[in-house]
Amino acid sequence: MPLTLSSLSKAVIETEYAVRGPIVARAQELEKQGKEIIYCNIGNPQALEQKPLTYLRQVLALCEYPELMEQAKNLFPEDTIATAQNILKGTKHGLGAYSESKGVRYIREAVAEFIQKRDGIPADPDAIFLTDGASKGVQAALRMLISGPQDGIMVPIPQYPLYSATITLYEGKQVNYYLDEHNNWKLSRQMLEESIAEARRFGVTVKAIVVINPGNPSGAVLDEENIKMIVQFAKEHDLTILADEVYQENVYAPSMKFVSFARVMAQMNVHDVALFSFHSTSKGFLGECGHRGGYFEIRNIDPEVAAQLLKLQSVSLCSNLPGQVAVYCMVKPPLPGSPSYARYEQEKQAILSELGKRAKILADGLNAIPGIVCNEVTGAMYAFPRIELPPGKTDTEYCMALLEATGICVVPGSGFGQIPGTAHFRTTILPPTNKIELVIQRIAEFHKNYK
Ligand SMILES: Cc1ncc(COP(=O)(O)O)c(C=O)c1O
Repeated sequence: MPLTLSSLSKAVIETEYAVRGPIVARAQELEKQGKEIIYCNIGNPQALEQKPLTYLRQVLALCEYPELMEQAKNLFPEDTIATAQNILKGTKHGLGAYSESKGVRYIREAVAEFIQKRDGIPADPDAIFLTDGASKGVQAALRMLISGPQDGIMVPIPQYPLYSATITLYEGKQVNYYLDEHNNWKLSRQMLEESIAEARRFGVTVKAIVVINPGNPSGAVLDEENIKMIVQFAKEHDLTILADEVYQENVYAPSMKFVSFARVMAQMNVHDVALFSFHSTSKGFLGECGHRGGYFEIRNIDPEVAAQLLKLQSVSLCSNLPGQVAVYCMVKPPLPGSPSYARYEQEKQAILSELGKRAKILADGLNAIPGIVCNEVTGAMYAFPRIELPPGKTDTEYCMALLEATGICVVPGSGFGQIPGTAHFRTTILPPTNKIELVIQRIAEFHKNYK
């Protein structure tokens, strides 16, 4: 039987990933024809001029090519050399050998220490799995949760399409719950109850709830009260929580702060709600998307389930070693007083303060355009403004026309989900500040004339 489209599974055909869909393909075509494109479609900071952190790259370079250690004494700060030596010792055989399926233990110990410090709670290196980006961790969790077509996973609307795509691929049911746009994209208990009740009416067995905090595409940071409410909801309905916390360093509003689900659950003394939490080297101020570093931590998971999870992870042997080293650098930055510290802090603060500035310029600029309303971008890397469209037009048509007219590449709201009858688009806050201003000007001009 030849491999043809008709021989593929329905799940493969139906899997969609809007962030790299037809609008992006058209943008690439236009770029080839010589048109200037401003890519606001994907959270890929280093594709938009963000510089990698020197510390991380120096450590990685030394780990990849230990022969450099001697020469590096004259080139790199001495703590990078010591760090690289320790990591290499931890890997035992260097970056060219497979590690344990969960990842190098030395690195998982560093992750556990990071969680302990961040949340003030114990963390177990054996409950940590290093992954190729957070995406692979999310896919592993969903693989464990979806046992048949009756199994449902609650996902926020709007959501990051990794979730919808993976649930489709694994042939589960996506159970939507709406984020409250009029309340800064918070979750509401009423909306959660309505969503789960509706799914159950259709015979769906709801297994888990996904929460993305800070939010993609919402750009919102959840407060502790909201997280407590979600934990309580999950407890009452016996749901596993998938806490996607890849944007935990991306909090811009001075009044907001990131609080992890693990910490809130410990404070609430909840020890019977299963939790997967995800983190990544792709976001924050590292923006190391290409290095595919990530981890997830499990809590309150039945040991027999954890053993199955380990078995599944071992099918792909281990996550990539340079990505694991990037995770180490993320969770163990240089300490105050060490030779790399000042430069590290300066680079980190420069990136975060630029992102904060852009978040504000973008939301304010969009709000100044008649027919566009945007919530404050308190975190993550995106704005998800609501747009008024002429009758009969769709957000996809709008975004395609915007691209053709202005070279600005954004993603239609329908790729993330939205309340029927509303229209949005998602833009990142990543283009350099002067380009963000240009983006706003061009959108304003385009929107005024769009028919
Ligand atoms: C909410 C969210 N989760 C997970 C990911 C996946 O990131 P990675 O696989 O690069 O770690 C992304 C990437 O944009 C994201 O926005």
